[in-house]
Amino acid sequence: MKVYVTRLIPEEGLDMVRRYCDVEVWEGELPLPYEVLLEKARDIDGLLSLLTDRIDAPLMDAAPKLRVISNYAVGYDNIDVTAATQRGIIVGHTPGVLTETVADFTMALLLATARRVVEGERFVKAGKWKTWGPTLLLGRDVHGATLGLVGLGRIGASVARRARGFAMRILYHDIARREDLERELGLIYTDFETLLGESDFVSLHVPLTEDTHHLMSKDQFGLMKPTAILINTSRGPVVDQQALYEALKSGRIASAAMDVTDPEPIAPDDPLLSLDNCLIVPHMASASIATRTKMATMAAENLIAGLRGEIPPHPVNPEALRR
Ligand code: GLV
Ligand code: GLV
Repeated sequence: MKVYVTRLIPEEGLDMVRRYCDVEVWEGELPLPYEVLLEKARDIDGLLSLLTDRIDAPLMDAAPKLRVISNYAVGYDNIDVTAATQRGIIVGHTPGVLTETVADFTMALLLATARRVVEGERFVKAGKWKTWGPTLLLGRDVHGATLGLVGLGRIGASVARRARGFAMRILYHDIARREDLERELGLIYTDFETLLGESDFVSLHVPLTEDTHHLMSKDQFGLMKPTAILINTSRGPVVDQQALYEALKSGRIASAAMDVTDPEPIAPDDPLLSLDNCLIVPHMASASIATRTKMATMAAENLIAGLRGEIPPHPVNPEALRR
């Protein structure tokens, strides 16, 4: 069977796939062009894709033998899952393994933004550090502050566990209430507007869907405290970036930390890049050596199960095989 892998992923995963089938890998540093993928798709049985690949219906139609798409990510907004299900193509993803790693990084962004770590580093390296200063680079306390979690899935809940260690008051909003987690972690469920109005830190943990596209826009920033900090480790388009720029520029909110942008990479002339109160890093929340390796073996397991006609260990659309 033939499989196409759209980027070099950790060797452990590639080895597993190579043992099972005939593998071709795109070895470029940048994503392969869509047209090239269309061409490659013609005779493949399986595809191991990245979140940087657009996997849409025309691509699936160009791949008559395709039975499994294994996404090397927990998010799968890059794949038209409905189209895959209609064609009996099973889709797999990598949930769970990256939860704690992303939660760690969310706290890193939260702490770095609250306490101006990156600004401090730039200050020192620019030779500006003359003396200890009573009011030099004052930030905001994390302990005792209110954290608002937008989305309480696996990652949101893991961030809550960490935030408890920092003695934060934790609010959350989600489409479903999690009373078990409320009891376990002392979380307070609120409506979205209350969460925005009361939180010192608002952290986004929702998948990107039609409903969450531009979930954070002008009106939502308008409800936040002028001292509030926004953290986004979900997907760029969950935030209306133009509205974020205006909110940060005008002081409507204090600062933001973005692991994800829209588009990715962010355009070099994006006005957000001119702001000192916006920390932007290149979509790296799951980027630990251990986690990226586990994601590779998990994606390989999903792929191989799909090639065997089985439901993968971590399916997105198990109903595809029931059809
Ligand atoms: C990363 O953003 C992922 O979805 O795995
Ligand atoms: C700070 O370093 C202090 O000693 O207060």
